[in-house]
Amino acid sequence: MISARDVELRAGARLLLEGATFQVSAGDKIGLVGRNGAGKTTLARVLASEGQPAAGSVQTGGSVGYLPQDTMVGDLEALAVDRILSARGLDSLLAGMRAAELGMADANPAKRDAAVRRYGHLEERLTVLGGYAAESEAASLAASLGLPQKVLKQPLRTLSGGQRRRIELARILFSGSDTLLLDEPTNHLDADSVSWLRDHLRTFRGGLVVISHDTELLDAVVNKVFHLDADRSVLDIYNLGWKAYLDQRETDARRRRRERMNAERQATALHSQADKMRAKATKAKAAQSMIKRADKLLAGVSADRAPDRVARIRFPVPVHCGKTPLTAQRLSKSYGSLEVFTDVDVAVDRGARVVVLGLNGAGKTTLLRLLAGVEDPDTGEVLPGHGLRLGYYAQEHETLDNQRTILENMRTAAPDLAESEHRSILGSFLFSGDDVAKPTGVLSGGEKTRLALALLVVSGANVLLLDEPTNNLDPASRAEILAALRRYQGAIVLVTHDEGAVDALQPERVVLLPDGIEDAWSPDLGDLVALA
Ligand SMILES: Nc1ncnc2c1ncn2[C@@H]1O[C@H](COP(=O)(O)OP(=O)(O)OP(=O)(O)O)[C@@H](O)[C@H]1O
Ligand SMILES: [Mg+2]
Repeated sequence: MISARDVELRAGARLLLEGATFQVSAGDKIGLVGRNGAGKTTLARVLASEGQPAAGSVQTGGSVGYLPQDTMVGDLEALAVDRILSARGLDSLLAGMRAAELGMADANPAKRDAAVRRYGHLEERLTVLGGYAAESEAASLAASLGLPQKVLKQPLRTLSGGQRRRIELARILFSGSDTLLLDEPTNHLDADSVSWLRDHLRTFRGGLVVISHDTELLDAVVNKVFHLDADRSVLDIYNLGWKAYLDQRETDARRRRRERMNAERQATALHSQADKMRAKATKAKAAQSMIKRADKLLAGVSADRAPDRVARIRFPVPVHCGKTPLTAQRLSKSYGSLEVFTDVDVAVDRGARVVVLGLNGAGKTTLLRLLAGVEDPDTGEVLPGHGLRLGYYAQEHETLDNQRTILENMRTAAPDLAESEHRSILGSFLFSGDDVAKPTGVLSGGEKTRLALALLVVSGANVLLLDEPTNNLDPASRAEILAALRRYQGAIVLVTHDEGAVDALQPERVVLLPDGIEDAWSPDLGDLVALA
């Protein structure tokens, strides 16, 4: 259980949230929503005791499992399976048993005996902790999240960002925590895993706070909605499921509009009456009090809430290039014994729209990394065509320099533009005024996505490689970015689980992994997108 009293959150000087008091008890399934940068992640960190509120208190009873939005994994040399098992402290136990097994083959009989005793001892403790069943439980959780057995035996270093994130999610679900805090858990998940997660969370008996832009998940899982209203810095608490919450918000908005209109009408009448009376010296005092009453009426109704602001994204005309700016021949890639794909050919024509489809782990991200030149293929080559200018949008925001400010990142991406142009482009991506002096490292997930896309815009790229560009975006910004992608004149190679993104792009070509078959796009393939 988590209990928050009068919590206030600040980001630097900015107030994010004030006076939030609530509880997360067993059986509460809370959807925490609000636009990008509202402070959802900041609140989750505070609830997870990873951050301090500016004021107020948070008390926790029982264990809490927290999945951060940006996954950081400690030791990259650890095996994936051990990372999951570490949630219950089983990893060190099993590692000890593996070491003891080796010792049991020792030539020295004394050492052999000691190893046997050690093994027996460890095995006893393993049994107490749920034993081998726990290990298979971990494997089955991982499988449900699209992580095959062989991936579990690999060190984390060799896994893709998406796979690592799924390992973290499996780890938290495996931990058996009383309360779960999940920040955008469906990022990087395929449709099967998302629907499995939906069922899992629905039947979960503890307390849950889930931050998500996935409305299907919210609809299926939550019985309460906390809306962090960035304009008012308050947490609106609705003890309702998702659909009922949407209806209630609509009703609330209508009621506020009506109240405001009434108040305005009355205030206008009072003002005009006061104007007439002011002419007479004897009535000046009464006129004064009428104006006061009018002001009070207007102060009593909340101002119309600003609709969520949206980035106006316009891609500049790309730099001119030849007919086929990017070609790749016979690309193959393996990590250790894991063969990701072999002999993949890709040809990207000027202005072409290509979607890369394939199951999780089929190497979609790897293919983009090879095309972007951030990783080398084992065989084959990537051939830049005449005039190629690449823009790469990485799933993990790897292209952003977290140590530097927003403006500095922009300056590096487009050194030829004047600062006023930098600022105006950033402004159109909702970074205004002092925002641009923020260090990139503190940005929210959605803000990082916006910045990364802004950097692509200024680069004049004629081929964009986009890896899940709609993850983390709130619905309003997502719609805007998809519309912009439709207007963009350069070529796009897209990896996504988002069917709406594919629809918006209207692709002509598809590359199917791991076989690397390149083909004309057909609308039937749309069904495969979410599965991929
Ligand atoms: N140290 C800091 N200085 C200034 N601003 C900060 C700092 N840390 C965070 N912020 C800002 O606080 C705001 C809230 O961030 P947070 O990550 O909580 O948002 P969010 O609601 O999770 O957004 P998203 O939906 O994009 O994930 C953002 O505008 C972020 O840039
Ligand atoms: Mg966030």
